[in-house]
Amino acid sequence: MYSEKLFEHFRNPRNVGEIENPDGVGTVGNPVCGDLMTFMIKVKDDVIEDIKFKTFGCGAAIATSSIATEMAKGKKIEEALKISKKVVADALGGLPPQKMHCSNLASDALRMAITDYLRKTNQIERIKELGLEKELKILEGEETEEHEETSEVEEFLND
Ligand code: FES
Repeated sequence: MYSEKLFEHFRNPRNVGEIENPDGVGTVGNPVCGDLMTFMIKVKDDVIEDIKFKTFGCGAAIATSSIATEMAKGKKIEEALKISKKVVADALGGLPPQKMHCSNLASDALRMAITDYLRKTNQIERIKELGLEKELKILEGEETEEHEETSEVEEFLND
């Protein structure tokens, strides 16, 4: 059901942790399973030069986060955005259908972190060009949410 590569990434995940003063942060959750994932990126000359993740989730979520960060590191923004849930799942030798949402979380967290970087650097036009308006709306919505609702994510980040 799971490939050896997936188990290997689960047992020995790459890029776990946090980045001090990240250029972009993306947190996504799955309301069904309750899993939570945060990606942080450092960008230089339009290249993701560092990336870290924290995942409070299942084994597939950990493995998909690990491989997604590995693939994104060193890539230009445009290239990193091609890391879709299918690309992530394929890189791990496939995932059972009921686990596809786990790799969806990893690609979504990456897109959110990139969008956060672009908006913090005032590249709003580029957000539109790259089709990241949905992510921008979510990020802006998070800012206007009640503090109580975001505190859970903050607690998770500050662990
Ligand atoms: S079961 Fe929810 S991310 Fe895997």
